[in-house]
Amino acid sequence: MITGKFPQLRPRRLRKNENIRRMVRETVLTVDDLIYPLFIVEGEGIKEEISSMPGQYRYSIDKIVEEVKEIKELGIPGIILFGIPEEKDELGSDSFSDDGIIQRSIKAIKDAVPEMYIITDVCFCEYTSHGHCGYLKCENGYCDVDNDKTLELLKKQVVSHAKAGADMVAPSGMMDGMIKAIREGLDRAGFTEIPIMSYAAKYASAYYGPFRDAAESTPSFGDRRSYQMDPANINEALREVALDIEEGADIVMVKPALSYMDVIKAVKDTFKYPTAAYNVSGEYSMIKAAALNGWIDERKLVMETLLSMKRAGADLILTYFAKDVAKWLG
Ligand code: PBG
Ligand code: ZN
Repeated sequence: MITGKFPQLRPRRLRKNENIRRMVRETVLTVDDLIYPLFIVEGEGIKEEISSMPGQYRYSIDKIVEEVKEIKELGIPGIILFGIPEEKDELGSDSFSDDGIIQRSIKAIKDAVPEMYIITDVCFCEYTSHGHCGYLKCENGYCDVDNDKTLELLKKQVVSHAKAGADMVAPSGMMDGMIKAIREGLDRAGFTEIPIMSYAAKYASAYYGPFRDAAESTPSFGDRRSYQMDPANINEALREVALDIEEGADIVMVKPALSYMDVIKAVKDTFKYPTAAYNVSGEYSMIKAAALNGWIDERKLVMETLLSMKRAGADLILTYFAKDVAKWLG
């Protein structure tokens, strides 16, 4: 690829000043790439800070509307919603109730800020009494998520989101066949135009810790390793993504992002598909903690981190830093 050598070749010539650096820059991060995650709780007048995620809040529906107006003003094109219901049960019934926390939130946001693109996280862990991502089946003292029963419940959940006005659904439960089931559910209900962003390669990760505080979704026993992926595997990630694309996913996601840049790159290079990266809660909190201690330059570190995700191959980035980045890019 390279034909010459020093002293003819001097790479520093193209780093001389910001003008030339701008001209040869290969990757850009823009506000167009960002999706902002939001947590919604029951009640009124609530905006409570999440202790393990400084600068992020849980909002009641009246307050979320104000927040979404601000997000729109900042030019952020999309949000992803996580609902935290008051009542949890074995089925996670609130998640597919037409009167559920998420369904009411979608309607309220669409009423107040119709231009905002609303994506919903589709899962059960915030809604079930046991905190697992689907319907639990127990046999001989061993409990695990029942895959196929969960698919039936997932269909109900996505249809209720679509009916409430969601623009896109994003299933995060890592059930086998979930994209096929959801596509079928949406199509049968007449929602053929609603895209699916699949959390296709989602790892069983310690980086979700702060999110689980925020969303009250820590499993009451065990862990998620019987459905989320082993951090050791990348070939399996490619198989997961292939399956989801065959089943009808419109966008595929890799999650977490920071420790999985190789996976982002492999997915993008292999499939050339719209690829999202989730800069998850633990990645946010690590940077925040260091910044609050004055140990790192937050702005520079955030921009470098998110730019690196784009360089690895992400087209979209879900990030709690979206508002900050929008302001910095101003
Ligand atoms: C729910 C869900 C999780 C996240 C997004 N959707 C948590 C989990 O799987 O335990 C994590 C997001 C984050 O850490 O920011 N299935
Ligand atoms: Zn879940």
